[in-house]
Amino acid sequence: MPLERLDKVVSSVCEISRKDARSVIKCGQVVVDGVTVKDAAVRIDTETVKLTISGEDKTYKQFVYIMLNKPQGILSASNDRSRKTVVDLVKADFDRPGLFPVGRLDKDTTGLLIVTDDGDFGHKVISPKSFIEKEYIVLCDKPITDRDVKVLEQGVTLADGTPCRPAKVLVLSEDRMTVSIVITEGKYHEIKRMLGVVGAGVCQLHRKRIGGLTLDPTLNLGCYRELSVSDLCNLWK
Ligand code: URA
Repeated sequence: MPLERLDKVVSSVCEISRKDARSVIKCGQVVVDGVTVKDAAVRIDTETVKLTISGEDKTYKQFVYIMLNKPQGILSASNDRSRKTVVDLVKADFDRPGLFPVGRLDKDTTGLLIVTDDGDFGHKVISPKSFIEKEYIVLCDKPITDRDVKVLEQGVTLADGTPCRPAKVLVLSEDRMTVSIVITEGKYHEIKRMLGVVGAGVCQLHRKRIGGLTLDPTLNLGCYRELSVSDLCNLWK
């Protein structure tokens, strides 16, 4: 039974500060299971509670899960002093404290990024122990030979001695410069450094899939939507 303080729930549901939530409660605008409650410290069961705020029925979501098609030039971070972050991008519709990107894509990488405020979920998705596949489409600066594919599929050792798990590699284009690479960890600059081992540079990098969750093709760069329950189930498949 997930019990939460009433002011926390009101603040989250109405996307207002805790201070403002306490004022709304104090004014008698909050009705919990048919009873007006003026005590902000009351703990409510967020799964079963019926909440009416200023006459409107509200549903409380403990966490949000957002799929973003990350554009180039945006930082995979929660906040930054001067640069725009992925959390800034979703703020217009999801103004919740504690939002963070699940794993990082480089500033110049595009594609699927999950933004959430569920820390346990985020850790589980990025943990190498989960063995969740991440699929990238890469445009390289040289053709990827069958030998390169073999080397990457055996698991390369990066220039600094870090070993990488075997990847799945598929050459997608006739000129052999566009490839799909699937990895199950998320080391710093992993794809770029792996390709560096076979002498290839990366011209474009795009993440297409995390586990069984594929980037929604209707989402243009910079666009996002909330993940459905079935999306979240697919992710673990
Ligand atoms: N590997 C990289 O090199 N960069 C990314 O953004 C993601 C994976």
